[in-house]
Amino acid sequence: MATDLRVSLTDRCNLRCTYCMPPEGLEWLPKPELLTDDELLRLIRIGVTRLGITEVRFTGGEPLLRRGLVDIVSRTTALSPRPHTALTTNAIGLARTASALAEAGLDRVNVSLDTLRPDVFETLARRRRLDDVLAGLAAAADAGLTPVKVNAVLMRGVNDREAPELLRHCIAHGYELRFIEQMPLDAQHGWRRDTMITADEILRLLEGEFELVPADADTRGSAPAELFHVRGEAFPDGSPATVGVIGSVTRPFCGACDRVRLTADGQVRNCLFAREESDLRSLLRGGATDEEIAAGWRAAVAGKRPGHGIDDPSFLQPARPMSAIGG
Ligand code: GTP
Ligand code: 5AD
Ligand code: SF4
Repeated sequence: MATDLRVSLTDRCNLRCTYCMPPEGLEWLPKPELLTDDELLRLIRIGVTRLGITEVRFTGGEPLLRRGLVDIVSRTTALSPRPHTALTTNAIGLARTASALAEAGLDRVNVSLDTLRPDVFETLARRRRLDDVLAGLAAAADAGLTPVKVNAVLMRGVNDREAPELLRHCIAHGYELRFIEQMPLDAQHGWRRDTMITADEILRLLEGEFELVPADADTRGSAPAELFHVRGEAFPDGSPATVGVIGSVTRPFCGACDRVRLTADGQVRNCLFAREESDLRSLLRGGATDEEIAAGWRAAVAGKRPGHGIDDPSFLQPARPMSAIGG
């Protein structure tokens, strides 16, 4: 059974990253279709108390845009057994809310940061918000939402040459950087297998400046990131510096996957690339008992396919884009 629940709190976002959304944005989910905070908390409670969920990660779109976020976090961490909690965010506005989130019991954050250059940020995210992101990152570290992890997607000819510089910056600030292979989940269907930057290429880009040593062969478990020590480099606290590579496409880790996803409109997805969803919202709103909802959830997870099939000739991108799944 999946033990790691990823909850999308909204499909909206205040950025328009080219690998995710078109410039004009998308047609957002209508409010009545979104789970209310109470509905959401009921599902999380069922996951934690009946289905063995031990970790809850809040995602979006951009989860900081969800008005009740701090309250949702504190109600989640009040559950028994208390799940581990994390947030995946673009960090815009995090400078204002990091300490409230920490007080609500949030354990840690992962922040998307693809570049340190304001102009490149504007090209990639189509907004001029790099300073907000950097301030959010610093606030997260100050609030103890650690380890702070940073996610970077490299786009050819845009930010790929910046990979070593990003790593230097993250090591200096104590952030655990992971480079992610771009996946075919963008709403515009612009992804191409032959031009994406692969894990091998990411490692070559870094190895021009750093010596990387595989670090987690025995301890990786179900983690998407393959971890490397950066020889001779240390984080500010003196621990050995690391960098991760999330090679979803060329080095798939589906066999070890322990994740299940809940969308903001109450659908369970057993894979990022699932083609079917299970409608828990209808069960909820139709008066189902906790056990009936748990049974629907179990059946959804049991139907999981063994892999994402990106390389199959019959592969089709899921209808729901990344921004409405939450990564
Ligand atoms: P931690 O390492 O535990 O902090 O979590 P994480 O790496 O799973 O979380 P995050 O939300 O930061 O995701 C980083 C990248 O990994 C994103 O691009 C996700 O879409 C990708 N990812 C997370 N889970 C999966 C998965 O089940 N399958 C695939 N293919 N990619 C995933
Ligand atoms: N492929 C890979 N990663 C993506 N993300 C968003 N879209 C894609 C994509 N098409 C990343 C974001 C964020 C994380 C949740 O997913 O950069 O850090
Ligand atoms: Fe970028 Fe994430 Fe927003 Fe998509 S949801 S536009 S990846 S910040």
